[in-house]
Amino acid sequence: MVDKPSKQAYGLSAPSMHSLLNEFPLNQAESREVIDKILQSYKDMPGGLMVILNEIQSQIGYISQPIQEYVALVLNEPVSTITGVVSFYSFFTTKPRGDHTIKFCMGTACYVGGTPQLLQKAHQLLEIEPGETSPDNRITLEVCRCVGSCSQAPVVVVDEQLYGRLRPSKIPPLIRSIMKTYEGPQE
Ligand code: FES
Repeated sequence: MVDKPSKQAYGLSAPSMHSLLNEFPLNQAESREVIDKILQSYKDMPGGLMVILNEIQSQIGYISQPIQEYVALVLNEPVSTITGVVSFYSFFTTKPRGDHTIKFCMGTACYVGGTPQLLQKAHQLLEIEPGETSPDNRITLEVCRCVGSCSQAPVVVVDEQLYGRLRPSKIPPLIRSIMKTYEGPQE
């Protein structure tokens, strides 16, 4: 069990801290405990911000605006610093991801090679935009920068698996296969 963070120790204003602690997921004891433990462990480490954000992303699953503000307060940094880092790196998300993530590479080779058409097809099927998760929490669509496989453009990355030279007609079976995986072993 992690001690309740001391506003005095962090030099925080009580109203700021109080309102943040009422925001989800900071108002959930379990999440707060995880976040506080991470902050306590790394807040004094040089360059600890990236470690903190990485740990929060992997343990909580996302770094929402309230979490960013909380981290900023505890580290005594401007919120813009935290937001800048979170928005720069595509592996950070501000919302929970679905069980599976489909990333569409928007690097130049992939963009020219047809990523917008692939994305459009996925959008038609799932009715969600990049950055959104399907209502059943199965699939999150994202765009990303070059993943270093330009010779296979256009590239899509499903979880950790890379698919190259895709055409829009390949998107429906790809999504079906993801759904099948999600539903577990078939009879
Ligand atoms: S531009 Fe997509 S892999 Fe390089």
